[in-house]
Amino acid sequence: MNMLNNTRDAACVEGVALTTIAAQFGTPCYVYSRAALTAAHASYQNALAGRNARICYAVKANSTLAILNVFARLGAGFDIVSGGELARVIAAGGDPAKVVFSGVGKSRAEMQQALAADIHCFNVESASELELLNTVAGEMGRRAPIALRVNPNVDPKTHPYISTGLKTSKFGVAFASARDLYHRARTLPHLDIRGIACHIGSQLLDPQPAADAASRVLELVDNLAAEGIELQHIDLGGGMGIRYRAETVLPTADYLAPLLARLAGRREMLLFEPGRSLVGNAGLLLTRVEVLKPGAEKNFAVVDAAMNDLARPALYDAFHEIVKVGAGGTASAGIAANMGTASETKTYEIVGPICESGDFLGHDRELALAEGDLLAILSAGAYGMAMSSNYNTRPRAAEVMVDGNQMHLIRRREEVAQLFALESVLP
Ligand code: LLP
Repeated sequence: MNMLNNTRDAACVEGVALTTIAAQFGTPCYVYSRAALTAAHASYQNALAGRNARICYAVKANSTLAILNVFARLGAGFDIVSGGELARVIAAGGDPAKVVFSGVGKSRAEMQQALAADIHCFNVESASELELLNTVAGEMGRRAPIALRVNPNVDPKTHPYISTGLKTSKFGVAFASARDLYHRARTLPHLDIRGIACHIGSQLLDPQPAADAASRVLELVDNLAAEGIELQHIDLGGGMGIRYRAETVLPTADYLAPLLARLAGRREMLLFEPGRSLVGNAGLLLTRVEVLKPGAEKNFAVVDAAMNDLARPALYDAFHEIVKVGAGGTASAGIAANMGTASETKTYEIVGPICESGDFLGHDRELALAEGDLLAILSAGAYGMAMSSNYNTRPRAAEVMVDGNQMHLIRRREEVAQLFALESVLP
């Protein structure tokens, strides 16, 4: 899905032209569509209609408050991986009672914070975590609700950096040891066994691995029930992929169908933790061409966004479609007369200004560019802003959400002075 529409003479997100957003808020700037966020959420709701199920948005994909708030208003729960994310969920109006807390290294302080907030469940990922959580809950005079995150050893057939369900992965507890750990948990006085969780990877396009993982999990759930450990929920994680390029992406209902077929008639509540599929194609990164630079072998278009704004190309060699959405005129660099006219299509490396060869946003893009042109880097709503940094002392981008004909600044562009406000020099 492409959130851009070109129905008028301008490229728009919903009813607002990207040129208007760039003129008002500058570039680089993340732009989101409330309608696209809502539609993505609705696709899960519709697929799960009639079931006892909850969508827990994976906050890590994009933790900007306005995004969390849109999902909170839609009734979503949240999957968090840090105390910081819990604080964001609460600040954005999310309900802690619908929060699940994943992650391999929860600290004592994070456990205390989440217990005090009365979250729905801790997804416990190791034997040590189980013991520590019991201790911390005991100190607070509470019982911690837990699920074990099991590792079903299913190959999700995705990028190795985002595969999480294999035996070799650091995530979850080994499938073979899960049963013993549940029995151990039952003996610990400050734990309350609630469910089971698994998440096998991200950007999954084939629905089969998730369905296979669900089958393995169900087998375990039934064995546990036979031994007197009754679980109340089954959390099947996130992972559904989105279209970045030419991938064939199933509609949500079709992706979930094989998995839901295996869960037919179950009494446990189902939880899902989608991240990318809720926000990925609801956001783009708006950037302006600063300099066109012919090289010996390649033509470079240096834009004002960089790997600090969108790390995915540098980190995973990820592909993001890049389209021209406005003609130039306001570039900070001068016009290079030797670069031809805007109508001449050339093959460009789209790169940022950071001092690293890995600082690219796209290779070999056929575009007709002039300095000052406005580009949109698509499918950037997930793991874009959330993974941005201040490398090269670059202030992070502004973020804008479009809602119909309105645009809202949801995060101001950082200012340089803020970037070293917490630092001090030696006396
Ligand atoms: N639940 C757990 C426990 C996870 O670890 C993740 C993602 C999710 C849910 C959400 O998965 P999603 O629906 O977004 O696929 N930075 C990488 C992706 C890392 C995913 C980490 N875990 C990227 O930019 O592709």
